[in-house]
Amino acid sequence: MEKRITVIGSYNTDLVSKAPHLPKPGETILGGPFIMGPGGKGSNQAVCSARLDAEVYFIGCIGNDNFGKIAKDFLLKENVKVDYLKVTDKTHTGIALIIVDDKTGENMIVVAPGANMEVNIEQINAVKDIILSSDVVLLQLEIPIETISYVLNLVSNERKPLSILNPAPARKLDDKILGKADIVTPNRNELEIITGIKIETLEDVEKASIKMLSYGTKGVVVTLGKDGAFVVTENKRKHIPSFKVEAVDTTGAGDAFNGGLAVALSEGKDLISAVTFASAVAALSVTKMGAASSMPYREEVERFLKEYSN
Ligand code: RIB
Repeated sequence: MEKRITVIGSYNTDLVSKAPHLPKPGETILGGPFIMGPGGKGSNQAVCSARLDAEVYFIGCIGNDNFGKIAKDFLLKENVKVDYLKVTDKTHTGIALIIVDDKTGENMIVVAPGANMEVNIEQINAVKDIILSSDVVLLQLEIPIETISYVLNLVSNERKPLSILNPAPARKLDDKILGKADIVTPNRNELEIITGIKIETLEDVEKASIKMLSYGTKGVVVTLGKDGAFVVTENKRKHIPSFKVEAVDTTGAGDAFNGGLAVALSEGKDLISAVTFASAVAALSVTKMGAASSMPYREEVERFLKEYSN
């Protein structure tokens, strides 16, 4: 049976340009081509989970504008359920300005959140049944922190469903909020900001993850880009190397990982196998330009894993 994943998070219209290098302060660079596409960490993770064959609800907020209309059509086309996607007159649909380095595929992003900041507790109360009947609830940090905290409290009081908090973009977080999430998935930078431990080596990653575990979460999965992922639970410490691919655009790689992880865990995979599956999803996503549009489909991931194991 299809597993249900509820993603509570952001939608952004991504305005992307490639550039010969990432600009320094005050520098103007001639870049291009320019690409406009669907993004936002929440929506990217929702699209990824749907392409991996989960039943996905996206709880978010868009503006009553053209970008909002494009967003809704896109999500519908991707089989993401938008019954509880709010439309606001108060402000614009979220926007992300993205520059992608032509040579390395690395990016720089500025988000103007707009409508994403209207995802509120009232909206969550209206979808409690959807959340509690899900197999996994997936959150990021591009909506108000009070809303995130409310969802995590709700889910931890009810002891269901499994919650995954992707603490992106990086910000200092109250340990109590973080401790309510079952699984936390920071990248290096987020791990450093949250724990205050400087991350240079894998030993630092392990030390900071153990500190994070002490806040109450059951598992920490650190995404390390081309260096793979690091898993820490009460009785597990494991470094999982990445799949080697040619990176064209790393935008949304973290979202692909989180979508993949949510799907694998919802299907009952153990954490290590789920992280391997998520790493394959992320690897495939960086081989294409774009955020949501670069998310791979289930059969591509299965084929890739099979080819890799031969
Ligand atoms: O994680 C990538 C995403 O971050 C982009 O799609 C952009 O919208 C920002 O939210």
